[in-house]
Amino acid sequence: MNDQSAPIGTDTPVRTKPWKESNAIGEEERLAVERVMQSGNLSMFQGSFKPNPPLSFLGGPEVQTLEALAKDYIGSSHAISVNSATSGLYAAVGALGLGFGDEVIVSPYTMSACATAPLVYGAIPVFADVERETGCLDPESIRRNLTPRTKAILVVHQFGIPADMEAIMSIAHEHDLKVIEDCAQAWGASFKNKHVGTFGDIGIFSFNVHKTIQCGEGGLCVTNDPDIALRLQMIRNHGEAIVGDTQHHDLTNIIGFNYRMTEISAAIATEQLKKLDRLNAIRLELVKTVSEGITHHECLSVPSPEADRSATYYVYPLRYHAEKFNNMPRAEFVKKLKEQGIIFYEGYVKPIYMLPMFQSRTAYKNGYPWTAPENSESDPNYAKGACPVAEDLFENEFLMNLHLCPPQTKEDAMDVVKGIEVVCR
Ligand SMILES: Cc1ncc(COP(=O)(O)O)c(C=O)c1O
Repeated sequence: MNDQSAPIGTDTPVRTKPWKESNAIGEEERLAVERVMQSGNLSMFQGSFKPNPPLSFLGGPEVQTLEALAKDYIGSSHAISVNSATSGLYAAVGALGLGFGDEVIVSPYTMSACATAPLVYGAIPVFADVERETGCLDPESIRRNLTPRTKAILVVHQFGIPADMEAIMSIAHEHDLKVIEDCAQAWGASFKNKHVGTFGDIGIFSFNVHKTIQCGEGGLCVTNDPDIALRLQMIRNHGEAIVGDTQHHDLTNIIGFNYRMTEISAAIATEQLKKLDRLNAIRLELVKTVSEGITHHECLSVPSPEADRSATYYVYPLRYHAEKFNNMPRAEFVKKLKEQGIIFYEGYVKPIYMLPMFQSRTAYKNGYPWTAPENSESDPNYAKGACPVAEDLFENEFLMNLHLCPPQTKEDAMDVVKGIEVVCR
């Protein structure tokens, strides 16, 4: 037992010392930044397809090194770095040619950019419900929400737990739908021994400061389709100025943005990617310690995805069952844990359709894109009750711990176990 962890049964809280901040940035990243600073080249992108060495449409050496490493690690034929996963999601919807008149099935229980990405191009997000055990899109609910206008599914590997990609890809094949996989929280996760991000048309990863690996802000798209890769590269980098010099003829959605990653960010991200497996191994050990230590408490469900879904737990997700704990409200349970120095957050995020943008159906002037003539047949359900499982997780069941990651140790994880033990007694 560590010296600041009190024995169970005393009045002292189980945990009095602070939790360590998660920060895997170290000497390797510092050296990488210095290398770029010395080169003097902080970005080597140019908004033109014509080679003008050392500038390039594809970015500089650090960007290209990161992309080569990432595609090998993830197992895709192309990787395209961007400056955030949000940019990556927007670029993905654009690259797949989605737009007015199309519906995209999305998860309500995730980060808001997953639902705004279709809107940016004029498509309508339709929310399907999630699986109670994982928080990922429920294939049965996807089926129930299909319409003749459904063109794509944007699936999220929530909390680092892979969605049921077999069932989801089989729906996509049956109905000729595109699939975007949001892997922002799922670095290193795999389904049936294949990395997430490689099942659908495009996979998106995040390097933002809170993620398993980070470079401050950054993102990555992966695909196995060379045409989609080129479209992603053009949307990343002023596509309208570039497309004329490419062999690409489909101009739809080719308006470009500046989603380009800097050389410093790419150099940091490369070092982080090299550390990913080691960081994930620590995370998984911490999760195992807590899950094994608390399985006997009936009021809690520990994460237990099926064996072929190999999760990497960006956060530690628990479910609380008040009815198995004298109907103690979740907020009260969390307060008691906090008194023991153990911090769990309630609910994760409000289902996205409850946000004002969806309640008022206003993304652009005059209610576009919902009021667009091409979307007149679409009538998505954004009312309370639309996705009962997501709502129940948000309002009643879901708990999440953000500390079960490096540099915490097994002793720290044991504090979580003991804190829960004290409260459950
Ligand atoms: C599931 C999911 N998708 C997308 C994003 C957006 O990532 P970024 O901050 O890199 O834009 C996040 C970030 O929180 C996320 O958790």
